[in-house]
Amino acid sequence: MNNRRSFFRKSAALGMGAFGIDSLFNQLHAAQFLEAEQSWNPASDSNEEYWSVIQDAYTASKSEIIILNNGGVSPSPIVVQEALDKYNKAAAQGPSYYMWRIMDKGREPLRQRLAKLAGTDAEEIAINRNATEALNTIIFGLPLQKGDEVIGTLQDYPNMVQAWKQRQMRDGVVYKQLSFDFPIENDEQIVKAYADAITPRTKIIHVTHIINWVGQIMPVKKIAQMAHAKGIEVVCDGAHTFGLLDYKIPDLECDYFGTSLHKFLSAPVGSGMMWIKKDKIEKIWPLLCNSEPKSGNIRKFETLGTRSFPIEQAIGEAINFQEGIGNKRKQDRIHYLKKYWAEKAAQIPGVKIHTSLKPEFSCAIAGVSIEGMKPEEVDARLIKDFKIHTVGINWENIHCVRVTPHVYTKLTDLDRLVDALGKIAKKA
Ligand SMILES: Cc1ncc(COP(=O)(O)O)c(C=O)c1O
Repeated sequence: MNNRRSFFRKSAALGMGAFGIDSLFNQLHAAQFLEAEQSWNPASDSNEEYWSVIQDAYTASKSEIIILNNGGVSPSPIVVQEALDKYNKAAAQGPSYYMWRIMDKGREPLRQRLAKLAGTDAEEIAINRNATEALNTIIFGLPLQKGDEVIGTLQDYPNMVQAWKQRQMRDGVVYKQLSFDFPIENDEQIVKAYADAITPRTKIIHVTHIINWVGQIMPVKKIAQMAHAKGIEVVCDGAHTFGLLDYKIPDLECDYFGTSLHKFLSAPVGSGMMWIKKDKIEKIWPLLCNSEPKSGNIRKFETLGTRSFPIEQAIGEAINFQEGIGNKRKQDRIHYLKKYWAEKAAQIPGVKIHTSLKPEFSCAIAGVSIEGMKPEEVDARLIKDFKIHTVGINWENIHCVRVTPHVYTKLTDLDRLVDALGKIAKKA
């Protein structure tokens, strides 16, 4: 009996600890967040006192380099770093016992919490390592025949474009790619482009919820409604939106969805999630085989082999942190940060912004370019002379430097970015 009690105590401390009253989040932040909440003024458009508490919760806010490529991968707040350390230390004592016998028990509560955050049934959520794994599982798992058509775009993420091209090579699926000139502030124009490409053989539309290169928000719901009216299913790449935009997956009305959790949710690197509408799970083949590949149990997609359970379990603290802020507040803040720097930068002679600044069409990301300079040259100058980390984009018809702030980004960091762009533009 005593052994049993101590086993459960250990389970709570290791595998299922993230959501309990004694979670690290509660130990580190509950009181602080509560206090910060008192300073929140709904009438203010910036609430800097509140956000300074969030900034302090990340070591990245104190980095010597200003990190403005959070769209690539985001740092975790301290609470997630500590959870990961705690789980890693525990696992190191004997991974086969602590990971497989104890932490493993944390997967179902985690599934429940991810489902709550995503607004879905937990039986539709598979936990994996990243958006690439989630979306490749869907792309290779769909039972498509030779001649079936798939519509995507040249501006989708390369790992998914390559997956569809491989299906084309191996199975004779016909993969068509539209091309958009972003920014576009007209949903109907986007929906029409997909609709015009549909033929009687079209089976799938692949949509990237936020185009990673330049931050355009795609009208997934409108595309899905149009597609469903013609019996076509929709795969949504939500790598850049989960944990950033305030939505629930069913709001998108898509059929399949994949995301990384190490981007805007700030979970540890190597964490991801897949969602498949309940009645479609059965027909999707797992990418990594399971003894029941035709089952309707979402867990058939989790036969990933040996992997890091500490990473998986630390997702729990990232959810606590996310919920401590709230989805809407987070989206509004990150959009505010983007607008803050981009509006100022747009005033600099020779500087061009490549992204809509309206909240319906973009959030964290904006592209910027300087006349007469290549994106990689601007990127290199920013890091070399100003210690500002961004990323130069040259992809299809998109050429700009991508800037992505996160909740921990300070206004003073963005002032430094604007100042740097001004100095670089002057010399260009
Ligand atoms: C739109 C989009 N989809 C998918 C991915 C792949 O994410 P991961 O490398 O975490 O699998 C990315 C990564 O940047 C992305 O921007």
